[in-house]
Amino acid sequence: MDSPAQYGRKIDGRECARVLKAQLATRVSRLRENGITPGLGTILVGNDIGSEKYVAGKQRDCRQVGITPLAVHLPHNATQKDVLAAVQKFNTDPNCTGFLVQLPLPSQINEETILAHIDPSKDMDGMTARNLGALFLSLNQAPSSPQPCTARGIIELLKWGGVSLNGKHVVVIGRGITAGRPLGLMLTRRDVNATVTLCHTGTRDLAGYTRQADVIISAAGSAHLITPDMMKKGAVLVDVGVTRGPVNPATGKSHIVGDIDPACYPLCSAYTPNPGGVGPMTRTMLLTNVVEAAEQQLAAHKQASV
Ligand code: GUN
Repeated sequence: MDSPAQYGRKIDGRECARVLKAQLATRVSRLRENGITPGLGTILVGNDIGSEKYVAGKQRDCRQVGITPLAVHLPHNATQKDVLAAVQKFNTDPNCTGFLVQLPLPSQINEETILAHIDPSKDMDGMTARNLGALFLSLNQAPSSPQPCTARGIIELLKWGGVSLNGKHVVVIGRGITAGRPLGLMLTRRDVNATVTLCHTGTRDLAGYTRQADVIISAAGSAHLITPDMMKKGAVLVDVGVTRGPVNPATGKSHIVGDIDPACYPLCSAYTPNPGGVGPMTRTMLLTNVVEAAEQQLAAHKQASV
């Protein structure tokens, strides 16, 4: 890596999200002027506090940019049939531009079956087989279909933070559907042009790989997994994994611990904090998927009326 002028530069996901959301609000105003009010549906099942908070945050984001939040909250003992009925309702609701089913679902529900019933054009998480297939087939540039929000958010955040990935060796840790796997596909597209090593819990000698990385993206969900001895000086560090500490009885809140030990910061050229890095970007990419789907709807209407 070239010698950076300064070490430990923070790439602020909250600030980037603020800028992008202002741009999205302008695009939503334009859509509304053309008779389209974008709506984002959320299906939440049960009372997991983390999931409730995530969904509430997504609804708040929607209001900030002028998207209408449409919420379905089912009880923890909802059946597969109940969840499928909620999916079908959003699939056919013209006020719903797109929607998501908040994961994880209670154990009596088969997640794969639920995802398979989401209309791919309304899949705002970009996690249905058709949308992941479109990602797989996109070699040169991003597809026009909805893209997985966390992976897209990471690439947008690095671009905004002035980090070029062209020709860089990126080591990704984690093979999950939301980040690790799609990142491998997206980072190797020609418009991004990185070389990717995808590590996971079965990787032997993880540090042997991370020490070679120009950019480390850690989505393992293992608190402070990446320590200073595991990186080369001047690498870029992206912290995706979230581990929740115990709830503080005084505040009722649990603090978030990322995958990257903050002792790494003085040695890196740039890092994304956690919280305040990838998280706000994931939420902003969800809004982006909704706005893009609504713009495609408008273009189709205009085309049909010519
Ligand atoms: N649970 C945790 N993160 C996510 C996400 O990005 N989308 C959905 N649907 N569920 C989640």
